[in-house]
Amino acid sequence: MANRTPVVAGNWKMNTDVESGLELAKGILKLSNSVSGVDKIVCPPFVSIATIAQVLCGSTIQVGAQNVSSNADGAFTGEVSTSMLRGFVSHVIVGHSERRALNGETSEQIASKAIAVAEAGLTPILCIGEDLSVRKFGNAESFVAEQLESSLAEFSAWDSLIVAYEPVWAIGTGEAATSDQAQDMTAVCRKVIRKLAPDAANSTRVLYGGSVNSGNVAELLDKPDIDGALVGGASLKADEFSKLIAAAGSN
Ligand code: PGA
Repeated sequence: MANRTPVVAGNWKMNTDVESGLELAKGILKLSNSVSGVDKIVCPPFVSIATIAQVLCGSTIQVGAQNVSSNADGAFTGEVSTSMLRGFVSHVIVGHSERRALNGETSEQIASKAIAVAEAGLTPILCIGEDLSVRKFGNAESFVAEQLESSLAEFSAWDSLIVAYEPVWAIGTGEAATSDQAQDMTAVCRKVIRKLAPDAANSTRVLYGGSVNSGNVAELLDKPDIDGALVGGASLKADEFSKLIAAAGSN
């Protein structure tokens, strides 16, 4: 029986300014700092990271980034490197479906980002997930398996990886996957990890993301292969996000 600490990570996306982000972080700190048995992460926009990291320093709430460059430094206008983030964040989301769809990021580029994050001593939260047409054609499992495998090409830091299965059709739609669908797909992810790195399969946390809220989180977390949630909309309200943390935690 695997003993994996659950993870609840909030992806704030392009929401909040420095001031409102700080308020949100303080609210989460107040409501959730004492909850144990769960890894709690907030991922604010880049401009707020330093301020929020300072406020959360010494607390049990960790800070993550939503994206990073795979390059170390140089002529990459608008990009942020791992060395700029180190010291402020512990985690970096890579391969979110919005970046794949809106910024044209490929699994190959995402694999390079995941490696850069791990090499910087940070933990990548690697996202994969199928869109509605893939699911309707009955190809979700093979699509996600292929996407995960190619997004992990040449990855080797297996003790520092979180995977997030996020079906595109469930993100921001209010229509989460059923807990059975999410279980099936997180099990597929674990199978891929087992193939690539047999020793890591039982310890790697695999999250579900897509319209997670306080009404559906318990059922999702109850499933054997779902080790937590990557949360968008519901992470923007301190009380709602803290309910998700409480549901995953042990006190
Ligand atoms: P959502 O977003 O919770 O608003 O559906 C999840 C995500 O994009 O990570």
